[in-house]
Amino acid sequence: MNEDRAGLIAALKKNKNALILVHNYQRPEIQDIADVLGDSLDLSRKAANDDHPVIVFCGVHFMAETAKILSPDKTVLLPRLNAGCPMAEMADPEGLKRLKAEHPGAKVVTYVNSTARVKAESDVCCTSANAVSVVKNIDADTVIFAPDRNLASWVQRFTDKKIIPWDGFCYVHQRFTVDEVRKAREAHPDAVFLVHPECPKEVADLADEVRSTSGMLRFAGETASPKIIVGTEEGMLYRLKKENPGKIFLTLGSAKACRGMKTTHIQDVVLALEKNRYAIDVPESVAARARLALERMLQYA
Ligand code: 13P
Ligand code: SF4
Repeated sequence: MNEDRAGLIAALKKNKNALILVHNYQRPEIQDIADVLGDSLDLSRKAANDDHPVIVFCGVHFMAETAKILSPDKTVLLPRLNAGCPMAEMADPEGLKRLKAEHPGAKVVTYVNSTARVKAESDVCCTSANAVSVVKNIDADTVIFAPDRNLASWVQRFTDKKIIPWDGFCYVHQRFTVDEVRKAREAHPDAVFLVHPECPKEVADLADEVRSTSGMLRFAGETASPKIIVGTEEGMLYRLKKENPGKIFLTLGSAKACRGMKTTHIQDVVLALEKNRYAIDVPESVAARARLALERMLQYA
C-alpha cells in the first residue's frame, strides 16, 4: 500500500518538478520518500539553494515558513496545516520587543523553532546545530536567546557572554528525566549516551554528547561504541538504525513522540502534490526582516 503511494508520489513529484524535504522526526514511510532528509539546518540550507519551483515540506509549520521566507518565489507546501511546534508559539514579538527595550546593548539570537514575526524582531537565527557558533560570532557581549531556555543553557557552557534566555521549552524533550538517565546507565553501562540540546539542563549535563538530530547521525557513524542510548524524539531511531545496521540504539526511558511531527501521513503528501495544499505564505513586510536574520545565520555558521 505504502509502496503504491510512494510510486504515485514519485510520478506527481516529477510532473510538478517538486522537491520533498523531510525532517528526521517524521514517520518512517515519510522518511523513505524524502529527496532530502535532515535536521533544521540541512533543510534550511537546501530550501535556500535548491531550484525546484515547488517544495513539499514534511515537518512542522515553522520549518515550511522558514523555507518560504528563504525562497519567496517558490511554492512551499505543508501537507498538514495542524503540524505545529508548541515551542514556536511560546515567544511573541511584543514580549521580545519589551525584552530588547530592557537590555538596549543586547542582540537577539532566535532559534528557528519560532514564528516569522519573532524572527523578524531578531538579529540572527540559529538551529541546534549552529547555536554555539552563532552566539560566539555575534557582535555583542549580551545575547537575548529565544525561545528555548534549554538550548540557551547548553550554549552558555561554551561562552562567557551573558545569555538572557526566553522561558520556552519543547514539551517532548522536557519529559526526559535524570531518573531515566540513571536507570539507563545502570542497565547499559557499556553504552554511550547522546541527547538533543532541547533536553533539560540536568539531563544534558549527564550526556556523553549533545547534538542536533543530524549531529547525532554523524556521531553514531563515527563512535566505536556499538551501543547508543538516545534522548530525543522517537522518530530519530528509525534513521539511526537504518543507517547503522551493526549498532544497537536504545531510547532513553519511554519513547516520546512529537504530535506535530507525527501528524503527516503518506496520503497527506499525495494530496499535497495533487491539490497544491497547503501553500504557506508570509507577508513580505514580515518576511523581509525575518530573511535578514535567517541569511545571517547561513553566513555565520
Ligand atoms: P534539529 O534541528 O536538531 O533537527 O531539531 C529540530 C527540532 O525541532 C528538535 O525538536
Ligand atoms: Fe517542536 Fe519539540 Fe516537536 Fe521539535 S520535537 S517540533 S521542538 S515540539
